[in-house]
Amino acid sequence: MSEVAASHPPLETLLRDVKPNSGHLLKALHLVKEAYGYIPPESVPVVARKLGLTPAAVFGCISFYSELPTTPPPKVEVSWCSGPACRLSGGDEIRRIFEAVLGVPMEGATPDGRVGLHVAQCDGSCCAAPMVWINGRVHGPLTLADAVRIARGLRDGTFEVREEWGHGELR
Ligand code: FES
Repeated sequence: MSEVAASHPPLETLLRDVKPNSGHLLKALHLVKEAYGYIPPESVPVVARKLGLTPAAVFGCISFYSELPTTPPPKVEVSWCSGPACRLSGGDEIRRIFEAVLGVPMEGATPDGRVGLHVAQCDGSCCAAPMVWINGRVHGPLTLADAVRIARGLRDGTFEVREEWGHGELR
C-alpha cells in the first residue's frame, strides 16, 4: 500500500461529517472516490446507512455519473490530450499508436487491468503538445517514435511509472 493509501481513514471516519440527508449523497460519494479511486460496491450500504437511504438509491446515483466508477482504476493511467494544440500537432496519431500497441480503445484497459487509456482535456500544458499524461505526469512533445517506445514499455512493464498514483483500500 502506498503512503497516500495508508493515510486514508476507514470509511466510517471518512463519512463522519455526512448527515442523513439525500442532498449529501454526491458529497459522500466523492469523499469515497477521492479516498479509494473508485466507489467500492461494499461502501454502498455504509453510505446508504449514513444518509438514511436505501442501497438502491445510492446505486442509482452511482450509475448515473460516469465519474463514479465501481471498479478500481488501472495502476497506470495514460491520459491522452484531446485539446486543439495536441490534435493539430499530431495527437490523433499518438492516440492510434497507444491504442494499437496496448490493444485497447480509449476508456479501456489491458485485460489484466494494469494500463488504462483515458481521453483528457487540455490543462494548459500545450507547450508539450502533442502529449499524454501518465499517472498525471506530462510526457511530450512526443514524436511518433516516442509514442511507440513508451507504449511498448507500458505494455511490457519496462517503462518506469511514478508510483504515488495509488489509492486506498477499503477499510
Ligand atoms: S491541447 Fe493538449 S495540453 Fe493543451
